[in-house]
Amino acid sequence: MKKPALLVATTGWNAETWAARLRARLSGRDILATDRAGLFQGPDAALAPVHYVLVWKPLKETLDRLHGLRVIFSLGAGVDHIFAVARLPDVPVVRIVDADLTKRMTEHVAWQCLDHLRLGATYRRQQRDHRWRDVEPPAARQVTVGIMGLGVMGTHAADALVRLGFNVRGWARTKKALEGIETFAGEDGLAAFLADTDILVSLLPFTEGTRHLVDLTLLKKLRKSGPLGGAVFINAGRGGTQVEEDIVAALRDGTLSGASLDVFEEEPLSPQSPLWDLDNVTITPHVAAVSDPEALAQQIAEQIEALERGEPLRNCVDPKRGY
Ligand code: NDP
Ligand code: OXD
Repeated sequence: MKKPALLVATTGWNAETWAARLRARLSGRDILATDRAGLFQGPDAALAPVHYVLVWKPLKETLDRLHGLRVIFSLGAGVDHIFAVARLPDVPVVRIVDADLTKRMTEHVAWQCLDHLRLGATYRRQQRDHRWRDVEPPAARQVTVGIMGLGVMGTHAADALVRLGFNVRGWARTKKALEGIETFAGEDGLAAFLADTDILVSLLPFTEGTRHLVDLTLLKKLRKSGPLGGAVFINAGRGGTQVEEDIVAALRDGTLSGASLDVFEEEPLSPQSPLWDLDNVTITPHVAAVSDPEALAQQIAEQIEALERGEPLRNCVDPKRGY
C-alpha cells in the first residue's frame, strides 16, 4: 500500500525542484507539485491521499482542495505567508529551523553591519568618482548593534557580532538571558533598547504585534551621536514590520545615515520606490537567508518519517502568536 502523499505548493518558487529532492528521500508515496502560479494542474483524485503540504506563499484555492491534510510545512523560517491565507485548515503548521538557513542570515547581518562600520557607501561613492581620500572608520567596539527579535536567527547573529567586537544588545517580546548581550523586553523596554543603539537590526516575524512597528517615531529614538554619523537600520525580517515612507523620510532628514533593506512591505519592491535611488541604502531582493532545497528537504523528510513512527512534530508554530 502507498504511504500518504505530499504536495509542494509554492508561488514564485519552483515547487518541482523541492518535489524532486523529496522523491529522492521519501519512497513509496506520491510527491506532487504545483505550477509556479501555485496551482495543482491534476485531478482532485490525485490530491485525496495528500497528508502533507509543503508551502511558500500558498494559494487558498490549492489548500482548499486538500481534504485529507494533516500538516502544513513552511519552506521558510517565517510563517506569515501561511497565516495570510483566510480560513486556514485546522492542522499543525511547522516552520524551518535549520543551521544552514540560520548561518546564511548571520552572514547577511554581519556583512551589512560591517559594511556600515567600514563606511562602504562612502568608499563606493569615492570609487565611482575616482577619488582617493581616506576617511577613518570607527572600531566595532565603539558601535552598538541592537537586534530586534532574539529568536533562532537573532541570537545566532548576535553571537557572531559579539565575536566581531561590536557591543550587542537585543530586544524581544519576552526577557532573555544571553551571555555578553544586554537584553530588553516588550513595550516597556523598547525606548531604553533604542536609546543607545547605533545600528538597529530587525529579525522580527510579521504578526499583528509587529506590523509597522519601525516608523519615524521609533527611528527618532535611536542614537544619532554615535560614531557612524547617524543611526543605521537593517531589516532582514519582514517588510510589513516597517513603514517604508518613514524610512525614506528618516534617510532624507538625517535621522538615519544609512539602511540595508532585504524585505519590503510589497515584494518585489516597486521600480518607482524612492529607496532605489538613495545612495546610502543597500537593497537586496529578499535573499538574506534563502531556503536551499538540498539542505532543507532532508529535515522535512525526517519530520514526516518521525511523525509516521508516532513521534511528535518539532518546530510547530503557535497559531495564536503567529510565529
Ligand atoms: P523566531 O520565532 O525564532 O524568533 C522571533 C523573535 O521575534 C523572538 O525572539 C520573539 O520574541 C520576537 N518577537 C516576536 N514578536 C515580537 C513582538 N511583538 N515584540 C518583540 N519581539 C517579538 O524566528 P526566527 O529567528 O527563526 O526568524 C525570524 C524571522 O526572520 C522570520 O519570522 C522571518 O520573517 C525572517 N526571515 C527572513 C529571511 C530573509 O531571507 N529575509 C529568511 C528567514 C527568516 P520571544 O522570543 O520573546 O517570543
Ligand atoms: C523565510 C524567508 O521565512 O526566506 O525563511 O523569508
